[in-house]
Amino acid sequence: MTKWGILGTGKMAAALVDAIREAGGEVAAVGSRAEGTAAAFADHHRIPLRFGTYQALAGLGLDAVYVATTNDRHLSAALPVLREGVAVLCEKPLALDAAQAAAMADAARSSGAFLMEAMWMVFQPAFETLERLIAEGTIGTVHHIRADFGFPADLDPAGRLADPALGGGALLDIGIYPLTLAHALVGPPDRFEAVAVIGPTGVDLQVGVASVHGDVLADLSASFLADASLEAVVSGSGGRLRLHAEFHHSPRITLHRRGEQAGAWDTSYPGSGYRFEVDEVHRCLAAGRLESQRRPLADTLEVMQWMDAIRERIGVVYPGE
Ligand SMILES: NC(=O)c1ccc[n+]([C@@H]2O[C@H](COP(=O)([O-])OP(=O)(O)OC[C@H]3O[C@@H](n4cnc5c(N)ncnc54)[C@H](OP(=O)(O)O)[C@@H]3O)[C@@H](O)[C@H]2O)c1
Repeated sequence: MTKWGILGTGKMAAALVDAIREAGGEVAAVGSRAEGTAAAFADHHRIPLRFGTYQALAGLGLDAVYVATTNDRHLSAALPVLREGVAVLCEKPLALDAAQAAAMADAARSSGAFLMEAMWMVFQPAFETLERLIAEGTIGTVHHIRADFGFPADLDPAGRLADPALGGGALLDIGIYPLTLAHALVGPPDRFEAVAVIGPTGVDLQVGVASVHGDVLADLSASFLADASLEAVVSGSGGRLRLHAEFHHSPRITLHRRGEQAGAWDTSYPGSGYRFEVDEVHRCLAAGRLESQRRPLADTLEVMQWMDAIRERIGVVYPGE
């Protein structure tokens, strides 16, 4: 049984406790910035070992650690664990920027540790179905991708979504999903344009990206203000596939040809949607792999580089950059 530790005690940390257990793993330890929060989380989730620092999880003999801290701390939380040779599943975005992400990848490689971005979307039944349908030629040649991810967010200036010191902004928090969808289907862009609505704290509250990938045009957006469709549509010469909301873990895909529905696939499932990425970590560790073939670090790094370039265009800079 894979023995996990968790860093952070927020919403995602709690969600992954359930997912890890559902996937047959054991949650053995939790690390928090403070002993009190570590103890409360550990008691609530019945986790035997609890620590008031993140560093304490290195050297415990764990098989894997899940990093669920705010974005600004992914690098500093993951490095000590990776240097011990322990596998890391790290929340998206892997880090604040491509340089930090590359430092994590280097640390993993040099100590022989597994590292993967927790990009749960690519492990979803819907995503695998979409890729299969495209490969089978269901919509002919892909020429257009549209995806928007938005919800009216809590924009507390000191919260993780709005505070630049915590790596806030719509691009890194949710824009990463439309970008990763396009990147996974058609690779990095040849060129792109980006525009944003910048909020009072200096981070992007809305961001729109128009990109060209060969003869594919992508229209990708993220918003902390709008109750958006949360759908994705991939259109080709022979029809379009619609990933119904929420597209990053879509329960249903429909095929449309010239205004008529021509097919439908149920991609819903019971249980935690985070279970699939945990299953992948378990498979990789059992096979002795240092990277997931489904979510290789090269893909994560390319999307990080694209997000760096977008932030340069829209003028979002994090402290210390
Ligand atoms: N995959 C998904 O569906 C999904 C969804 C939402 C978020 N995420 C990602 O998951 C990560 C955590 O998000 P979340 O929604 O779990 O956030 P959250 O509920 O705010 O929890 C974040 C945790 O980070 C730690 N932290 C470290 N420094 C902090 C600081 N200065 N302020 C506040 N918290 C700090 C805290 O743990 P301690 O107090 O224990 O140190 C806190 O509980 C982010 O990287 C985010 O991008 C992924």
